[in-house]
Amino acid sequence: MPQLRVMPMPADANVYGDVFGGWIMAQVDIAGSLPAVRRSNGRVATIAVNSFLFKHPVFVGDLLSFYAEIVKVGNTSITVNVEVYAERNRLQADTVKVTEATLTYVATGEDRKPRLIPPLDSLTSTYTF
Ligand SMILES: CC(C)(COP(=O)(O)OP(=O)(O)OC[C@H]1O[C@@H](n2cnc3c(N)ncnc32)[C@H](O)[C@@H]1OP(=O)(O)O)[C@@H](O)C(=O)NCCC(=O)NCCS
Repeated sequence: MPQLRVMPMPADANVYGDVFGGWIMAQVDIAGSLPAVRRSNGRVATIAVNSFLFKHPVFVGDLLSFYAEIVKVGNTSITVNVEVYAERNRLQADTVKVTEATLTYVATGEDRKPRLIPPLDSLTSTYTF
């Protein structure tokens, strides 16, 4: 299941008419944060973008699906891999993997300081990690 599905609009394009990388990065950050929020059972802050590969361009009107998977859980941090697929021509099922990134989130408390990731068996969420 993708964490997000979204279609970039003309306002998300760069001066050449393709989708602006910063817009894609923002969506990736949101998509990656969702499993981190569930796993940490609370708020998180992005501490690092470990890698980011824009392998193929994204065009206005592509339907983007953002898949996110937790790859590491530390004491206070969670690292998530995000893959982005673009459906370019939906009637012909033309799908291209356009972007892959790895980001690290830190679980934070109300004071915005790091907090420990709770053990898996303490979570009430039905989400499977
Ligand atoms: C997130 C924040 C609260 C963490 O506080 P901190 O004192 O810097 O964190 P720490 O040094 O204790 O490290 C916390 C965790 O992050 C990890 N970490 C630190 N630097 C890292 C890096 N460069 N890459 C990956 N992980 C890193 C640490 O290993 C630690 O993980 P662990 O507890 O699982 O071992 C603080 O850095 C912050 O507020 N940053 C701004 C966040 C933000 O505004 N993000 C939005 C983007 S602008």
